[in-house]
Amino acid sequence: MKDLSFNVPVVMKTEDELNETERALLAEAKQATYRSYAPYSNFSVGAAVLLADGTIVSGSNQENSAYPSGLCAERTALFYANSRYPDTAIDMLCCAARDVHGNFTLRPIAPCGSCRQVLLETETRFGRPIRVMLYGTEGIYFVDRATHLLPVYFDASYLK
Ligand code: THU
Repeated sequence: MKDLSFNVPVVMKTEDELNETERALLAEAKQATYRSYAPYSNFSVGAAVLLADGTIVSGSNQENSAYPSGLCAERTALFYANSRYPDTAIDMLCCAARDVHGNFTLRPIAPCGSCRQVLLETETRFGRPIRVMLYGTEGIYFVDRATHLLPVYFDASYLK
C-alpha cells in the first residue's frame, strides 16, 4: 500500500489585507448576491470573474421550481464570461454568499463539485491558472489555481 497525500495550499486574508483588485472583485461578488434568484433555498450567492483584460463580469445563483434546473452563481458567471468573451482568459473568481437570514456567511463559501469542475475546464481551456477567492466574514480563502480545489480530477486527457 502507498499513502498518497495531496497538498492543498490555501492562504487566508482579512478584508484589510486585500489589494485594490481583490477589493473591487469582492465588492462585485457581494453586489451580485442581491441579484440572486433563490426563492427555494433563500441562500443568495454571488460570483465575480476578473478577465485577463481587466473586465469584471458577475453572476448569481438562479433557482427553479424543478430544482436541478437551477444554476450556481459560479457557473452562471463563468459561462457568461466565456460566452460573452470566448477568447479572453479568466484570471480570478471571487464568490460571496448570504445565508437565510440575509447575512454574509461567517465561513468562506465553498463552491460545489460541479462548479470546481467547470473552473478546472476553464483553467485548462485558456492554459492559465484561475485564482479563487472565497469570502467569509471571518476570513477570506485564496487558492492560486482551480486544481487546488479539485486535486483528483477528471479531464479531457482521459478521453484520448
Ligand atoms: N450555490 C451556489 O450558487 N454556489 C455555491 O458555492 C454553493 C451553492 C447555490 C445553489 C443553490 O441555489 C443554493 O446555493 C443552495 O444550495
